[in-house]
Amino acid sequence: MDKPALLFVCLGNICRSPLAEAAFREAATKAGLDAKADSAGTGDWHVGNPPDRRAQAEALRHGIDISSYRARQVSPDDFRRFTHIYALDSNNLTNLRALAPADGTAKLALLLDEVPGMAGRSVADPYFGDDAGFADTWREVSLAAEALVRELRG
Ligand code: 4NP
Repeated sequence: MDKPALLFVCLGNICRSPLAEAAFREAATKAGLDAKADSAGTGDWHVGNPPDRRAQAEALRHGIDISSYRARQVSPDDFRRFTHIYALDSNNLTNLRALAPADGTAKLALLLDEVPGMAGRSVADPYFGDDAGFADTWREVSLAAEALVRELRG
């Protein structure tokens, strides 16, 4: 089987999906799981920018430096290059479905569908809120990361 390749997608790729990518990388490394991870946004406003400083600070609180991450926009080719694409919220899931090419092979799902008891829920957008929102984001993406690693290890 191909090595798992996971893409996490939110709107701007500067708040939620970089934190999801970081949490997953950390959980996979700790578990010795060989997997590829990346993140992207459905929007293009922040392409080329590092994560929001509040997202960087939240990751650093957990010992992870995400300052080198750069935002990019999701592309049709992502549906062929990744085995799994996880939308951080339902709006982005809808937009991803519309973008998926006919020959796309990636399994597309809502991230919190992976977490027992949280199916159907979206990771709230913390961009327009205060710093506390980023701690909530971290908690949710960490739960998802742990669940994904458990699932992928089989
Ligand atoms: P993200 O947050 O989708 O979690 O990266 C946002 C970042 C920027 C904007 C919206 C959400 N924006 O409107 O610029």
